[in-house]
Amino acid sequence: MNEIKVVGIVGAGAMGSGIAQVAALAGHIVILVDPFKDALNKAKEQIHRTLRKQVEKGAYDQQKSDSISANISFTDDINHLKDCGLIIEAIIEDLGVKQKLFSDLEKIVSDNCILGTNTSSLSIVSIASACRKPERVIGIHFFNPAQIMPLVEIIPGLTTNENTAIITKNLIDTWGKKTVLAKDTPGFIVNRIARPYYGEAIRIYEEGEHSFATIDWAMKTIGGFKMGPFELMDFIGNDINYKVTETIFEQLFYDPRYKPSITQKRLYEAKRFGKKSGRGYYDYAEGAINPQPVNDYYIANQKIFTRIIVMLVNEAAEALFLKIATKEDIDLAMTKGVNYPKGLLQWADELGIGYVLNVLEKLHFDYGDDRYRPSILLRKMHNQSKFFYPE
Ligand SMILES: NC(=O)c1ccc[n+]([C@@H]2O[C@H](COP(=O)([O-])OP(=O)(O)OC[C@H]3O[C@@H](n4cnc5c(N)ncnc54)[C@H](O)[C@@H]3O)[C@@H](O)[C@H]2O)c1
Repeated sequence: MNEIKVVGIVGAGAMGSGIAQVAALAGHIVILVDPFKDALNKAKEQIHRTLRKQVEKGAYDQQKSDSISANISFTDDINHLKDCGLIIEAIIEDLGVKQKLFSDLEKIVSDNCILGTNTSSLSIVSIASACRKPERVIGIHFFNPAQIMPLVEIIPGLTTNENTAIITKNLIDTWGKKTVLAKDTPGFIVNRIARPYYGEAIRIYEEGEHSFATIDWAMKTIGGFKMGPFELMDFIGNDINYKVTETIFEQLFYDPRYKPSITQKRLYEAKRFGKKSGRGYYDYAEGAINPQPVNDYYIANQKIFTRIIVMLVNEAAEALFLKIATKEDIDLAMTKGVNYPKGLLQWADELGIGYVLNVLEKLHFDYGDDRYRPSILLRKMHNQSKFFYPE
């Protein structure tokens, strides 16, 4: 594991430049590659800006900042990656382009170089299939911004060998990140389980009784979430959030649980992406008047929070049932990857699995929609009076 000294990052965009900093901070010699000079210059500026801020805040001294900076070199030539022990790809989300890159990388690197991909939505095995040695290809999914968010999902594909998974997980652990192991399934852990936070919130809004401001208020006040669903969608970008939902829906063979919404599609079409475009659900123009929440605790609890939390718990239970990850990793992923106030399976125990099941069954019956079907795991656990975390 300690033999990996040189780390290559391909793609100097938002993710690649963040991952480069993390690896350099861990003491690696980092080579950041991008075919576009502009992208390399922007990455260089962004990394220097971040390091300057860390020094100003007193988080790093000047020497540490200088050594991180000295550890990173920038190039447009992938041939410079020949001595890498690990390469993490963070280029555009396009299967053909990624496959071509992986096949080109294999012609340059040694046989024991691990090839990681930071893809959010493509399957690991589909990228690995372009390789001569697919057993060395693995998903290493950082969250944005990579230099700040603590979670990294490690995703071995069908053809990844165990050694690759062990070495990668151990190495990223030494980078000060919290790693979780996920199965190569659409959305991995976080992007899959988090879908109802957005989808169910939009459903409630579309039914017309509660404004998005009220729904946001309910989730923050009753649930303790840092951001309400609509604030969060505006922050992530309705373009990105909509596309993730659409991709997961398609990849899960149109399971109604993951159905995208017309409301968000229209925002996307209108380019109301959220904060970055000045308008999403909310208007971010100076002096704009946005709707105010109705601060009714009873309604917030009964009609909003409960409906969204049972859907989230259902998703977490189903992911556990399908062995996408362990219960500990599922809870860790949601608290460290998207800052949930507590793990969803722990939350299920606190709410009562029978209660969660009842609410889901009522929704399923009332709406007659399969999106509300309870996970068989919740039913089994309730029948056997089990807890996710028995004392
Ligand atoms: N942005 C996020 O929130 C986020 C979070 C987790 C994972 N991801 C994933 O990380 C990857 C990168 O996302 P991003 O947001 O950093 O994108 P980005 O658009 O900011 O950066 C992509 C970079 O890749 C470069 N590039 C394009 N084709 C290339 C090639 N053939 N070889 C080398 N470089 C190439 C581009 O010049 C650009 O600088 C994607 O797979 C994405 O799904 C993104």
